[in-house]
Amino acid sequence: MSERLIRPARTIYGSLRLPGDKSISHRYAMLGAFAEGTSRFTNFSTGADCASTLACMEALGAKVRRPDEHSLEIDGVAGRATPPDHALDCGNSGSTMRMLSGLLAPQQGSFTLIGDASLSRRPMERIRKPLEAMGARLTLTDGHAPLTIEGAPLQAIDFTTPVASAQVKTCVLLAGLQTAGTTTVREAVRTRDHSELALRAFGATLRRTVDSASIEGPQPLHAIEAAVPGDISSAAFFMCAAALFAGSGLVIDSLGLNPTRASLLDVLTALGAHISVLNLEEKHAELVGTVQIAGPAEGLGSTEISGPLAAQLIDELPVLAAIAPLTRDGIRIRDAKELRVKESDRIALVARNLRAMGAEVTEFEDGLDVSGGQALHGATIDSGGDHRIAMAFSVAALKAEGETLIQGAESASISFPEFFDLLDLVAER
Ligand code: S3P
Repeated sequence: MSERLIRPARTIYGSLRLPGDKSISHRYAMLGAFAEGTSRFTNFSTGADCASTLACMEALGAKVRRPDEHSLEIDGVAGRATPPDHALDCGNSGSTMRMLSGLLAPQQGSFTLIGDASLSRRPMERIRKPLEAMGARLTLTDGHAPLTIEGAPLQAIDFTTPVASAQVKTCVLLAGLQTAGTTTVREAVRTRDHSELALRAFGATLRRTVDSASIEGPQPLHAIEAAVPGDISSAAFFMCAAALFAGSGLVIDSLGLNPTRASLLDVLTALGAHISVLNLEEKHAELVGTVQIAGPAEGLGSTEISGPLAAQLIDELPVLAAIAPLTRDGIRIRDAKELRVKESDRIALVARNLRAMGAEVTEFEDGLDVSGGQALHGATIDSGGDHRIAMAFSVAALKAEGETLIQGAESASISFPEFFDLLDLVAER
């Protein structure tokens, strides 16, 4: 386990371009590996999670090449995966396990999916239910991984997701893609729509309404060439850091700004940060642009995150909670129970680490109340091996009194191996 010492900063200043979005990279890797032809991607995610997806897709018969450090070529299997003679290791990645299960359930053969200790604790019933309703044979271990799929042709369903989860939605759509008839997924809260956009980019026809996506199967996919937009959930750490310092100035270009992912811009604006968005364009229906951000002279105000916003900001909540004591009037988070079943129990870990830094926090089953106007002091932070906790508290540490030691700092490389180097680059001391 590696440790990282974070010293306070005077301000945040500079310009960045970030590695490709993790969610989009997973989907492009899966769909490219499943499609007919050779797909080419640039700015693919450098995180270990997407490497897990790529390794699984290779084990299923796709050929993956890296012509250079930033590019990836995938020869797809044209709709037919080869059952591997070993378990598919999804590592720390819930996205890999849940989405791949949907892709494999209608295939021929037997597939076992395993993960690390954290992933093996995460709930998998949420994918077993809809896949079983489609007729899939899927065995879990006490509701968790390891999971085994005995692939077989499925029946189309009309499914309403009980949890707001893009991974579950994608799982069902990927099974529906290969299943005769129309499969519909309905969601009460709109989750990230990268799968819907990516399926269309790879040539599939998909119908959408405000609260549903329908796919008629079977349909083939065709290879694409794409540049993956920068990861806004990685950018979140830098945007929150910049927002903390009056007179800071940060520019992030080629950033993914898909509206189902970009609520952080609204929240930071509501908190008082100065944000502008430039050079907006669409790439395979994904919005990409440049974001400029500066911290307000009067400091950040206050906000409440609840209802659908909590689901849309789910990956950004740890860093927002971590900086909440440094706002004037605090941040209140509710309807975010899902945080308890992420890579760690993120509500418990955020509360524990904020307390270690001297803040008062009230913990709820589905969120946190953190009042503002609280000074933080340096402390030893337990990341719990969770990448977003390690990075969130590195940001809070920039404004603490004294130095902060992040334990388990290596976990940042699950989504963002470059994080600490880039933080050193823009944090002026
Ligand atoms: C993701 C969806 C979210 C998110 C995760 C990535 C995706 O999970 O937390 O980091 O790429 O679809 P859920 O679908 O479980 O909410």
